[in-house]
Amino acid sequence: MSVDTQQLALNAPADAPAALIEWVAGVAELTQPDAVHWCDGSEAERDRLCAEMLAAGTFIKLNEALRPNSYLARSSASDVARVESRTYICSENEADAGPTNNWADPVEMKQTLAKVFDGSMRGRTMYVVPFSMGPLGGNISKLGIEITDSPYVVVNMRIMTRMGAEPLARIGAGEYWVPAVHSVGYPLIDAEGNTRPDVAWPCSDDKYITHFPETREIWSYGSGYGGNALLGKKCYALRIASVLARDEGWLAEHMLILKITGPDGRVYHLTAAFPSACGKTNLAMLRPTIPGWKVETVGDDIAWMRPGPDGRLYAINPEAGFFGVAPFTSEKTNPTALHSLSHDTIFTNVALTDDGDVWWEGMTDDKPAHLIDWQGNDWTPESSTKAAHPNSRFTVRADQADSISDDWENPDGVPIDLILFGGRRASNVPLITETFDWQQGVFVGATVSSEQTAAAEGAVGALRRDPFAMLPFCGYNMADYWSHWLKMGRTLGDQAPRVFQVNWFRKDANGTFLWPGFGENARAIEWALRRINGEVDAIDVLNGRQPKRDDLNAEGLDITAEQLDELFHLDPDAWATEADLTEEYFAQFGDRLPNELTDELTALRGRISDAR
Ligand code: GTP
Ligand code: SPV
Ligand code: MN
Repeated sequence: MSVDTQQLALNAPADAPAALIEWVAGVAELTQPDAVHWCDGSEAERDRLCAEMLAAGTFIKLNEALRPNSYLARSSASDVARVESRTYICSENEADAGPTNNWADPVEMKQTLAKVFDGSMRGRTMYVVPFSMGPLGGNISKLGIEITDSPYVVVNMRIMTRMGAEPLARIGAGEYWVPAVHSVGYPLIDAEGNTRPDVAWPCSDDKYITHFPETREIWSYGSGYGGNALLGKKCYALRIASVLARDEGWLAEHMLILKITGPDGRVYHLTAAFPSACGKTNLAMLRPTIPGWKVETVGDDIAWMRPGPDGRLYAINPEAGFFGVAPFTSEKTNPTALHSLSHDTIFTNVALTDDGDVWWEGMTDDKPAHLIDWQGNDWTPESSTKAAHPNSRFTVRADQADSISDDWENPDGVPIDLILFGGRRASNVPLITETFDWQQGVFVGATVSSEQTAAAEGAVGALRRDPFAMLPFCGYNMADYWSHWLKMGRTLGDQAPRVFQVNWFRKDANGTFLWPGFGENARAIEWALRRINGEVDAIDVLNGRQPKRDDLNAEGLDITAEQLDELFHLDPDAWATEADLTEEYFAQFGDRLPNELTDELTALRGRISDAR
């Protein structure tokens, strides 16, 4: 049964513009849902969808006394993370996607999509989800509409974005918006009219997460999980937005944003790019262990940044919630996040306790005697499998974190003083290094490598390049993206934020983390801020500038002088190897590689020779 355009128009809210109705009708004609629902974002709508998902077995209601208004969803075991191998940038020219993206010809991909989306919503309701990335009406914010056949996506989008009637009204008033179509790819009725029952987590083995940078559209098929399905997040706010940002002179980045107040009351803002599951949420909610410092959260995953009227760089968090990694969120590592999850939270792929609450590895020192694991099986501490999936996540509104900054919804954003680049590096990369200038900062961002995590499919632990933590998220040629960063540096001039490299993950010879991390990371940031204020000198080393040992506040830390030395140790031979690997890495970009980065590599090699 298909929905005709007229019926759809009757269904649509009064302020839905004709062009939008036509687009929705076209998608309905292709996907053939049983019904179309225009989301208003109300609580009543959410409650109804949650009740339907409870009845369908997609949601399990958590104990109302322990975890009010909260649910657990368990995904299919084949749909647990972003699928980078099935993520495509469909630019007209292959070179514009660049060597680090999967490219597909846009015409051919549209043909493939026409096939897989044909009838893909049969037997289901199609939801029209208007949303704003960033505070409504803010001049850095942007609108979108996601069409989806997943009620799970709708209720998650309601947390992660400003969703419903208000963004629709702005679209009705003529504001720019990006179209995004999503289907889990599990129709309940086939082309012959045969029906099949629904499952708790519908998805398809065939997956396509596709982006069309020239026409600025998103089509996602086959997955219901995270960034594959919540299309405002990675697909829009990073892949499509990075293209818009290049064309319009701003930055769309995989960065947390935080506000820090020093003991003297001075306020700073920082952004930090770390690859997926490398500590952005943790740092965004940092509780400094050193007295007098206070950290407030602005964002934990994505930053949109623009030069403001005063020439400084201003950042907004385009999201309204956190889709955070659950494992190892604990009273010790991130009490702020843990407390924010006490109510109104959706958990995906964590374990269920016997009293109807949630648990995951690293939440408590003691493991519960019995659990239902993320796949719905009995689990005891003797089990050889993990109770929660390593990429299990919570979805929660940002303002449920008590660390949220008063400024987090400031439509003009917050002025950025410093930018951190980091990753998981067991060796070679010191705890903190100041870059000499913006250009070297871009080189450092471009050459970040990190051990792969469970946030994407693939071999966990394998070292891979993840430039600017944007490897899976840049919507165009990575070398052009570096050029754009260099250009932004010229625009910002001496108002540009200062750039530092950090590594919380260095290990000793026994494989133990050398640095305690988490709240103690404030000590490294304190040094960076003192550098910005010109309060301390630094030591020039081969990859930048290091703290003099006495300037890094290690008071009260359980760390030996030898361990501190090891944290900052630079082995010129190992760095010579890094430089060779960087040369190889850069070679794939051919003449799109900005000369400035070649110059930086030459300069690095010079400093390595000097150090030898
Ligand atoms: P995405 O949401 O996937 O983009 O990732 P994220 O960067 O927000 O990841 P998150 O903050 O959730 O990273 C969680 C992982 O990083 C957990 O395994 C933490 O234990 C680990 N982690 C975070 N901060 C630190 C730290 O300071 N030291 C160490 N050793 N591990 C850390
Ligand atoms: C990441 O993988 O960087 C995430 C989670 O933030 S997801 O939204 O699934 O991409
Ligand atoms: Mn992320």
